[in-house]
Amino acid sequence: MGFSRRLITAGAVAAAGLAIGTFGRDTVPVVVQARAAQESPAAAAPSTVTAAGITLRSVSVDLPTSDRMFAGADADAINNNCLACHSAGMVLNQPGFGQAVWQQEVEKMRAQFKAPVDEADVPAIVAYLVSHKGPR
Ligand code: HEC
Repeated sequence: MGFSRRLITAGAVAAAGLAIGTFGRDTVPVVVQARAAQESPAAAAPSTVTAAGITLRSVSVDLPTSDRMFAGADADAINNNCLACHSAGMVLNQPGFGQAVWQQEVEKMRAQFKAPVDEADVPAIVAYLVSHKGPR
């Protein structure tokens, strides 16, 4: 459980550091107001700042709602093992499959992509996938 969480936190910190570093090097800084999609758009107050012949305009960006984790009481195993490299949404946007295909998919993550999946968690992961993304 702690393993994948720590990886994600480290990734977020690295991404934030990268963004700050990139903005710091730009000759013309860009002001970006990132707002979650569920916030009311009416709250957006357009603002501009002009100095030395350069005008900065704030912009609003609608971020996708969070689908980074798997939902449900049976999601512990998949959340603990499958979120280090991609989001839950990426997995759940795949077509529905039966047990054999999901089993192969988890094995592919382990064998080909070196996913550090606990062997003991594989049955619970496959069961979650079959139950939430079974054949349609
Ligand atoms: C070590 C990194 C890593 C981990 C951990 C990981 N995956 Fe993946 N996963 C990948 C990569 C890389 C791809 C391929 C992405 C692409 O093709 O663009 C992928 C793709 C997928 C896909 C899309 C179909 C496919 O085969 O490309 C599914 C579904 C998936 N992973 C499920 C899982 C599940 C379930 C787990 C947990 C058992 C998991 N992943 C853990 C790296 C990982």
